[in-house]
Amino acid sequence: MNIEEAKVKLAKYGQEHVLKYYDELDAAGQQALLAQIEDTDFSILKRCSELGKGSERGVFTPLAAMQRSEITEREAEFTAKGIEVIKAGKTAAVLLAGGMGTRLGSDNPKGMYDIGLTKHVYIFQRIIENLLDSVKAADGTYIRLFIMTSEKNNDATVAFLKEHDFFGYPEDKVTFFKQEMAPASDYEGKVYMEEKGRISTSPNGNAGWFSSMIKAGLLPLIHEEGIEWLDIFSVDNVLQRICDPAFVGATVSSGVSVGAKVVRKAAPDEKVGVMCLEDGKPSIVEYYELSGEMMDAKDEAGDPAYNYGVILNYLFNEKELEEIAQKELPLHVVEKKIPYIDENAQLIKPEKPNGCKFEQLVLDMIHMLDSCLPYEVVREKEFAPIKNATGVDSVETARELCKLNGIEL
Ligand code: UTP
Repeated sequence: MNIEEAKVKLAKYGQEHVLKYYDELDAAGQQALLAQIEDTDFSILKRCSELGKGSERGVFTPLAAMQRSEITEREAEFTAKGIEVIKAGKTAAVLLAGGMGTRLGSDNPKGMYDIGLTKHVYIFQRIIENLLDSVKAADGTYIRLFIMTSEKNNDATVAFLKEHDFFGYPEDKVTFFKQEMAPASDYEGKVYMEEKGRISTSPNGNAGWFSSMIKAGLLPLIHEEGIEWLDIFSVDNVLQRICDPAFVGATVSSGVSVGAKVVRKAAPDEKVGVMCLEDGKPSIVEYYELSGEMMDAKDEAGDPAYNYGVILNYLFNEKELEEIAQKELPLHVVEKKIPYIDENAQLIKPEKPNGCKFEQLVLDMIHMLDSCLPYEVVREKEFAPIKNATGVDSVETARELCKLNGIEL
């Protein structure tokens, strides 16, 4: 793209300010900016006006979860099935580590955060230790670990894991790929600049992972290795069980498209997304979308009908992912803190949200599938998310939960 074409494209979307410092850039900088303008989809920015409005939803009905009582009863059967599947090399793990972790506020990738008190205990280390438990259960069969990063945190993530010898995981069983980026703007839809020659971008949400895997050319590897199930999980839950045999076994035996780990809600109005059906297909209803009537609804046993919150750990059938990969996922507008350069070209790192990012969310992938098994896990044993530095879902609460589970920090 040349400068004239860039001007036309920017004018079309009211983004002429992107070229404010163009003349000050050297030739390489100018080329890089023109290339970024060419690649950027500015059409999404007008959707800033949708911030906080939510999207139109269908008719919600309850979706029963497989509860602990049934899982405990059938534990041996599920575990044996899961071990068989893992040993046959049919499962892989996908760590979603492309996020910016803005609420935690660390400059490093979230996985590099050290929650240790008397020794180093990095988040990545906790995750790999947990994955190794499944490897051990499957008599040492290593599970391929895909790690999704973004262009913002890829180099730091790769360097950190190499420096720590992948915390004992074999390097040849780890495959990195980068997710795609989307522009970030102020509330009026004017794109922010993060440098004089660079538009602010951020990772495009946690649902782009499978299409990013395809773009990264990983399908042949998946096929060659005979991977049939992909367990995707977030970087921030330090008690996360990954490809644990009972979950794998229950999901595969149920013949569903996806298994979803869920926890029993702590209170009817807890702020978690809840598994349900929407127009008869699996879906997640956000806590603010739950009507009073839905909160009061009861299942056959007299328990709350919308009672199981998702924890961002799903086991997807790979074939079905390939089928839905052709479809376009909706885009969500989210309010975030976006670093930018001000009118004096000074970099500002805002303390409070200052604009919009555009993300695709895993919940929309779930809704494209025909069937889902919500699988109950014990919250205190498997759910210790680190979203914030202090308070709810923080380093402090995660440390407490680690101690409760006998993990030395
Ligand atoms: P969050 O929704 O908590 O977002 O991600 P975040 O970016 O990590 O944190 P905040 O909101 O800025 O504080 C849940 C999981 O999804 C991954 C994150 O890395 C985390 O594991 N994620 C999120 C991605 O991989 N890519 C994204 O674009 C967004």
